[in-house]
Amino acid sequence: MNASDDIIIIGGGLIGLSLAVELKLRGAHVTVLSRNFQEAAGHVAAGMLAPQAEVIPPGPMLELGLRSRALYREWISKLEEITGLDTGYWHCGILAPVYEIPDHTELYQPPNSPAIWLDQQAIHKHQPGLGVEVVGGWWFPQDAQVDNRRYLVKALQTASQQLGVQILEGVEVEAIARNSKTIEALQTNQGAITGSHYILTAGAWSGQLLPQVPVYPRKGQMLSLKVPESFESLPLKQVLFGTEIYIVPRRDGLIVIGATLEDVGFSVGLTPDGVQTLLAGAIRIYPVLRDFPIQEFWWGFRPTTPDLLPILGTSPFDNLTLAVGHYRNGILLAPITAKLIAESVLDQKSDPLLEYFAWERFSPAPLQR
Ligand code: GLY
Repeated sequence: MNASDDIIIIGGGLIGLSLAVELKLRGAHVTVLSRNFQEAAGHVAAGMLAPQAEVIPPGPMLELGLRSRALYREWISKLEEITGLDTGYWHCGILAPVYEIPDHTELYQPPNSPAIWLDQQAIHKHQPGLGVEVVGGWWFPQDAQVDNRRYLVKALQTASQQLGVQILEGVEVEAIARNSKTIEALQTNQGAITGSHYILTAGAWSGQLLPQVPVYPRKGQMLSLKVPESFESLPLKQVLFGTEIYIVPRRDGLIVIGATLEDVGFSVGLTPDGVQTLLAGAIRIYPVLRDFPIQEFWWGFRPTTPDLLPILGTSPFDNLTLAVGHYRNGILLAPITAKLIAESVLDQKSDPLLEYFAWERFSPAPLQR
């Protein structure tokens, strides 16, 4: 397609806005349709940039995550330069304490990205105040974080607006009118909208719009605490990534704790079990938190696919590209998604990595006769 053609992005969350900025910087005309900016998964996550702490096995997904993490600093600098806004990027490293010594204390070490095993004595020295049950853990010095909820989404929205992306907030796509090969129009609560090319970035709601895209919600509940005024300095200067719990300290003393993983559809709200699980898990790994003042609770929906990997690239329709299903890694994967999808849409360039994330893996081609 030509850069002068209109690209319509369906979904104004973190992935949609990252793509809007990237496409606009490459000269495209871009419109973003956002049903409700506040609902997007980018507002929910803790902002860990954790391809190693998430222990993604070696393969295309880890490569995607590592490539994205490597892009982050430059991507953030560009956004901060455009907007003048901070994004809370912090190359703080992630410590992953364990309660049982694993069978072997060797982990895949990508080039220039060590995973360092710390025994009991070493980990308690590395991070004073850990729970007494912690018997060792991994240190991932290259993993990092960004303050997605307070800063990054705002910076992306501001950058989009400053660059001239048209953001239509409150526009809900209700149906996608299509024939067997082409998207013809989007039926929205504000009437029909058409463009030359469409990109689906509707997060956990993507599966409701196109049956060929199996994306469904997986709920996460979260909360935040604040370091009390009586502390002279931050007690935590790195992320703690435990079993089914993570604790993400921000530089201004906020501490984000997450997250439950629940298959409950789009059922909204907090539950006693969810909140109790988070508090108990956090206090077990870092007991000093038990007296910290609680700031806030929230929840949201991760966009999940049957194999937990994103769906990226072409679709069954010539004029529709997919960037959905980022599951636990949407914040991490935003820069690489924006880059690879922009190259695919504007330059018809398909990075070899995209083939592993193709929609066809959920739609085997009929046998040739
Ligand atoms: N990225 C961690 C989570 O989805 O909870």
